[in-house]
Amino acid sequence: MADVENGEADLLYFPPVEIQNEAHVQSMDQYREMYKKSVEDPAGFWGEIAKQYHWESPQTGQFLSYNFDYTKGPISIKWLEGAKTNICYNAVDRHVENGQGDKIAFYWEGNDPDDHGKITYRELRAKVCKFANVLRNLGVQKGDRVAIYMPMILEISVAMLACARIGAIHSIVFGGFSSESLADRIQDAKCRLLLTADGVWRGSKLLNLKEISDEAIAKCRQHGHEVEKCVVVRHLSPFEEQVVEGDGDSVEEPPAKRPARQLRIRWHHDYDLWWHELMEKASDECDIVWMDAEDPLFMLYTSGSTGKPKGVLHTVGGYMIYSSTTFKYVFDYHPDDIYWCTADVGWITGHTYVTYGPLINGATGIIFEGTPFYPDAGRFWATVEKYKVTKFYTAPTAIRAIMRYGDEFVTKYDRSSLKVLGTVGEPINPEAWLWYYNVVGNKQCAIVDTFWQTETGGHVLTPLPGATPTKPGSATFPFFGIVPHILSEDGKEIKDEGEGYLVFSQPWPGMMRTVYGNHERFETTYFKKFPGFYTTGDGARRDKDGYIWVTGRIDDMVNVSGHLLSTAEIESALVEHKAVTEAAVVSHPHSIKGECTYCFVTLREGYEFTEDLEIELKRMVRTKIGPFAEPDFIQNAPGLPKTRSGKIMRRILRKVAVGNRDIGDASTLADESVVDLLFDLRPDNV
Ligand code: WTA
Repeated sequence: MADVENGEADLLYFPPVEIQNEAHVQSMDQYREMYKKSVEDPAGFWGEIAKQYHWESPQTGQFLSYNFDYTKGPISIKWLEGAKTNICYNAVDRHVENGQGDKIAFYWEGNDPDDHGKITYRELRAKVCKFANVLRNLGVQKGDRVAIYMPMILEISVAMLACARIGAIHSIVFGGFSSESLADRIQDAKCRLLLTADGVWRGSKLLNLKEISDEAIAKCRQHGHEVEKCVVVRHLSPFEEQVVEGDGDSVEEPPAKRPARQLRIRWHHDYDLWWHELMEKASDECDIVWMDAEDPLFMLYTSGSTGKPKGVLHTVGGYMIYSSTTFKYVFDYHPDDIYWCTADVGWITGHTYVTYGPLINGATGIIFEGTPFYPDAGRFWATVEKYKVTKFYTAPTAIRAIMRYGDEFVTKYDRSSLKVLGTVGEPINPEAWLWYYNVVGNKQCAIVDTFWQTETGGHVLTPLPGATPTKPGSATFPFFGIVPHILSEDGKEIKDEGEGYLVFSQPWPGMMRTVYGNHERFETTYFKKFPGFYTTGDGARRDKDGYIWVTGRIDDMVNVSGHLLSTAEIESALVEHKAVTEAAVVSHPHSIKGECTYCFVTLREGYEFTEDLEIELKRMVRTKIGPFAEPDFIQNAPGLPKTRSGKIMRRILRKVAVGNRDIGDASTLADESVVDLLFDLRPDNV
């Protein structure tokens, strides 16, 4: 076991010598020199990097122009404006043309360990071209939005790249979102098409994605938005003869080796199309649409503190440079690497570090459909052994969950191929860091705790494997081009040691450009609190050695297993239940998930707080948002602690949630007796 109490967590961990010797950056001095150039002369630094990619025509305007200060005019960020390129060309065609066509782009590892596949760059190019032609034949044009609701199969990356090839904007919705969430996102972006699959096995759970897609399409229709076509990948149902024509049900047998359960999908002739049928007829050559560097590439929704999700918009050129450069340096990429990021493509980590970053570098990656626990808790390491993975990237929540099963699940597999172990999504606690380092990495690997956001497009605070001495739990130092500051509530800079708001004062190529359809919300959310700075919404502390420690969200956001959820969104799901008049949701610590949600509900007259109601309320949140958002705790709250002006005092609710009666100053409360009552009603199972 990692010994946190005996001081292991306070040590510095230096890069393993073998990694350092072959690394792109081999010392802190080299890092500092490159960093200095990147922030003092961004155009020079990134301009040099940009030369490694194909540009159909050079930039016409400035390399970089921006305004971070809303008091001086609208916020704007532009890199390489006027230059023409295509990210799909750079991620796929370029490698085929450079003689790398036979290199594996992706291994596909199914939920069932016996299911696997692979695709070379040449095959990927052919598939992407075919699907780009399919999209074109369906009338999709540059700038159109295409929604993708797919499991972790090769087709999800093919679909992204095909959109990018013809300039369509993809909007991927994670497969764990409910039909309502999917419908909201489709409507907000006015997507013309939905790309999905029949279903997927996740561990021993079968998800009927097609049914959820149908519900979402129906909901869009009710609100006057027509999804023209739904393209369905046949992933689970290879028995063509069983597809019933017409709008009736078709019963499709899953392959025999999977648990015997049937997937029932409904086929709508007005909008449904099978992916494989369209692909058969499509040509495998497809012209590239050359895009302006500042044309949109994709949008991805992230939780907003007001409840309504925001469509974070990324553009072609800057994202291309940034995703690939962070990939190269943070995983210290070399051409013989086998790289595996376990994140779902439905989240930003999957966009940047499953699809774009690795492919632009010409890497071999793994797309993994399963879970860390299926068929057992050794799945990650069995897969590492199978493919001889060299660079591995996962979430602290997965590490904590696997740790509990004991070291044997790890040590029985050969992990000697591993060099770099990354984490992302939430702060990693030193215990988990040390276990990752000692047990998984056998003290031979560099650990990179990467801090970033959907909005940042790629890593912003991170160690470099061959250079940075690490401290367990610290994301250490800024990546090239990132200028972090820690500010106090009143905007004063905390220069040395201290804690405050984490903000950035300069743009980097991969940062978001706007909130889709709502630039004002972009400005308000990220730039109003501290004029001149991009505000992350996270808190951070700088220690005496200058290391940065991200302390977590300081807005009304909860990070459950690395997924950001807005408390307002959960509250509005809860109050949709007829029994609930008011709800307040706060974060509660959780040993595996990091944080979980603790919900206080005030019931309407005539309703009683029962176990059944609790189940119904949890279900309500699953249906409104998605299964991954299900609350852990729901508590009856006949009253909520409010100020005289009616504002709910969440600080006090957080204390109630953890059972800590030391609530501090409660003098602004309208009615103090509410608090005692809440402590009395606190459930025993927390
Ligand atoms: C949190 C995920 C601490 C943080 C890439 C951030 C982290 C939010 C770390 C973004 C980390 C992510 N250490 N906190 N290494 N990585 N976070 O948009 O609160 O899904 O603001 O992007 O996750 O989550 P998002």
